[in-house]
Amino acid sequence: PRVLVLNGPNLNRLGSREPDIYGNGTLDDLRAALVTESRFEIDLRQTNDESELIGWLHEAVDTRTPVILNPAAFTHYSYGLRDAAALLTSTGLLLIEVHISNPHAREEFRHTSVISGVATGVIAGFGFDSYHLALDLIRRRLG
Ligand code: DQA
Repeated sequence: PRVLVLNGPNLNRLGSREPDIYGNGTLDDLRAALVTESRFEIDLRQTNDESELIGWLHEAVDTRTPVILNPAAFTHYSYGLRDAAALLTSTGLLLIEVHISNPHAREEFRHTSVISGVATGVIAGFGFDSYHLALDLIRRRLG
């Protein structure tokens, strides 16, 4: 089975972006770690474009693929992304929202997620382990 691991804006800069908050690992490091660890086929993607990210969620709906989603800054304001996320969970597909940092321990504007209400659940604050934990959950749920 395949898992889509979708990443929003600025996450292509991981490794050099605020390493005190996000660590030194790059998205390629994350992909390599997830692929090694999992028997699922890992399809990890990143975009800075809201429309592209919404399109990928539609693709997940059409192909019945579970999703691990780090919406990055879109988390806090994109109703378009939220509505796309709802397309998954309203039809019983797993959608796990992940964050590398703990947004609740940061600026006020990060305390709101417009995605969480339509996610299956949320994992935040564990660095790249947030993704590994999400994958564990998909394994537990899908067997
Ligand atoms: C993030 C948290 C968001 O607030 C931020 O805009 C990001 C990354 C995280 O993974 O910790 O870009 O989603």
